Amino acid sequence: SGKRVTVPEILAAKGNRKLAVMTAYDYASARIADEAGMDVLLVGDSLAMVVLGHDDTLSVTMDEMLHHTKAVARGTNHALVVGDMPFLSYQVSVPEAVRNAGRFLKEGRAQAVKIEGGRETAPQIRAMVDAGIPVMGHVGLRPQQVARLGGFKVQSKTAAEAAHLLEDARIVAEAGCFAVVLEAIPARVAQVVTRELPVPTIGIGAGRDCDGQVLVYHDVLGLFDRFTPRFVKNFAQLGTASREALARYAAEVREGRFPGPEHEFSIDDDEFKRFAG
Ligand code: KIV
Ligand code: NA
Repeated sequence: SGKRVTVPEILAAKGNRKLAVMTAYDYASARIADEAGMDVLLVGDSLAMVVLGHDDTLSVTMDEMLHHTKAVARGTNHALVVGDMPFLSYQVSVPEAVRNAGRFLKEGRAQAVKIEGGRETAPQIRAMVDAGIPVMGHVGLRPQQVARLGGFKVQSKTAAEAAHLLEDARIVAEAGCFAVVLEAIPARVAQVVTRELPVPTIGIGAGRDCDGQVLVYHDVLGLFDRFTPRFVKNFAQLGTASREALARYAAEVREGRFPGPEHEFSIDDDEFKRFAG
């Protein structure tokens, strides 16, 4: 159907059907993912790493995120578009968080935002939802915490940490999140969180029992090889395919085999004689 997925439909999917989510960062990737039938397209702040070449997600700005969100929105008819709020755009204060979240809908034309965090972000989530801005939560590994964590590591491997995570997930759902991303936690912990939450869980490195899955576009298609976490599956090798295609293009240019006659434009003989004699 051409009709766009809605927040109530995402909520209603819980227990009924699995949600297919992936990231997109521009018009071309959004169109491909949308036509492939994704339920949700997340304009992830992973943009910083896979598109802009940074080592982590901390340096991407609101203006950069909005620039890409606008392009994704233009390429999407079916999927719900979620804008990922960048580091320091929602942590400082509730009013600043609401204002920045609103920009994703107002300027970016997304239908929702995502923020990383547990109980400490409940006031922001409540205020955004009150303002009419749907919010997706994100607990477990939170890449915006990389400086504190000292790296991208699996979270909640002890009973105490798992209990803390479950409580964080409960609180952000209670604060009004319509779905919660669970990143890089043991599958059995994610299974319990999924069972306990009233809203869909969207896993990335959180096992098969989540209500949906999300992966990064470049990871799905084999376009990013700087590092590959255990949870990534390449469904194609487009990096290799692209390099090979581009090498053939360069070779054909150098050998004079491209462009061929079928790629050329013609001019009338008479016109050409009057031009060149
Ligand atoms: O930025 C991102 O791509 C994400 C998803 C992987 C959940 O936050
Ligand atoms: Na993110």
